[in-house]
Amino acid sequence: MKQCLITLALVLTFSWGVQGQKKAFEPGELWLDTDGTHINAHGGGLLYDQGYYYWYGEHKDHNSLAQVGVNVYRSKDLYTWEKKGVALAVSEDPDSEITSGCVMERPKVIYNEKTDKYVMWFHLELKGMGYAAAKTGVAISDTPVGPFEYIRSYNPNKGKWPMNFNDDWKKDYVENPSLEWWSDPWYKEVKEGLFVKRDFNKGQMARDMTLFVDDDNKAYHIYSSEENLTLHIAELADDYLSFTGKYITLAPAGHNEAPTMFKRNGSYYMITSGCTGWDPNAARSFKSESIWGPWEPLGNPCIGEGADLTFNSQSTYVLKVEGVEDRYIFMADRWNPKNHIDGRYVWLPIQWDGDRPILEWKGRWNLED
Ligand code: DGJ
Repeated sequence: MKQCLITLALVLTFSWGVQGQKKAFEPGELWLDTDGTHINAHGGGLLYDQGYYYWYGEHKDHNSLAQVGVNVYRSKDLYTWEKKGVALAVSEDPDSEITSGCVMERPKVIYNEKTDKYVMWFHLELKGMGYAAAKTGVAISDTPVGPFEYIRSYNPNKGKWPMNFNDDWKKDYVENPSLEWWSDPWYKEVKEGLFVKRDFNKGQMARDMTLFVDDDNKAYHIYSSEENLTLHIAELADDYLSFTGKYITLAPAGHNEAPTMFKRNGSYYMITSGCTGWDPNAARSFKSESIWGPWEPLGNPCIGEGADLTFNSQSTYVLKVEGVEDRYIFMADRWNPKNHIDGRYVWLPIQWDGDRPILEWKGRWNLED
């Protein structure tokens, strides 16, 4: 009995630290905030601002519709999170695009030095329309915790051709009902802009998304477009509130969702997922020397048991840890579509095989490991 108590005390001290604060990541386990409530910030992203990390994510209830909005939590050490409230609330106005019952997914926040504003972008689906609208919404705040004010939504880059298109691909859309999906001629057509042309006049589809701010403060919006078949990397205007019209297509017909982007030693990296709804699948990774490509596919970054299902999770963000050399955290969601509020988080350290990112399962780890 005495031995059991000593072991329990050692385990608690090891995992929670001396002040009762958790000092380790435990991927897939319940993660409580400082009030003792399971963190509710799904499809999330992080912002580092003046000594604090802010974690923004979808408030999920039992189903996947937005009934509250985007939650924000704050931490100094990445283990212990204090809830700071609802950063962007759904609207009670039935005419608002973000009315309660819409879909708000994968919110990301970046800080704009020129305007001194915090800018949030998220995937928006209009109430009652399933996933048909495929829009991205933008909101703004004076402080990292909000309240953010909703500005508008976009189907991006209306009337603009991707920078990586040849002139002879830039033709009007001609519907070809005999073109069979996944056939060789169809792949060729998708690469040469079948869906870009179809959506050229109304703006492109934008679903799963992330944001990336480069060293020169230029910001990019990366989204799954073209029926979730092809990723777009699009430049944002200097105030981060609209698109400049400069964009490229990436991995045409590659079915990439859940994009993340980060930079290491001057190279750009992406980790994404495949496209299987709420079910996990094998992750993918890409590398490029320029944000505008060419992007080299590096395959599944996961190794070991569970690698083919990303350890039962789907990417959402990659964080470069402040003040620690070469430390990147891969953040992912372990969705629970039967009870969304019980979705869990899988955070893993990125390891490297030369310049290839590697993810390996760890049941418990910390930044000092
Ligand atoms: C997969 C996406 O990554 C999620 O964000 C969500 O949109 C689901 N699909 C919906 O099925």
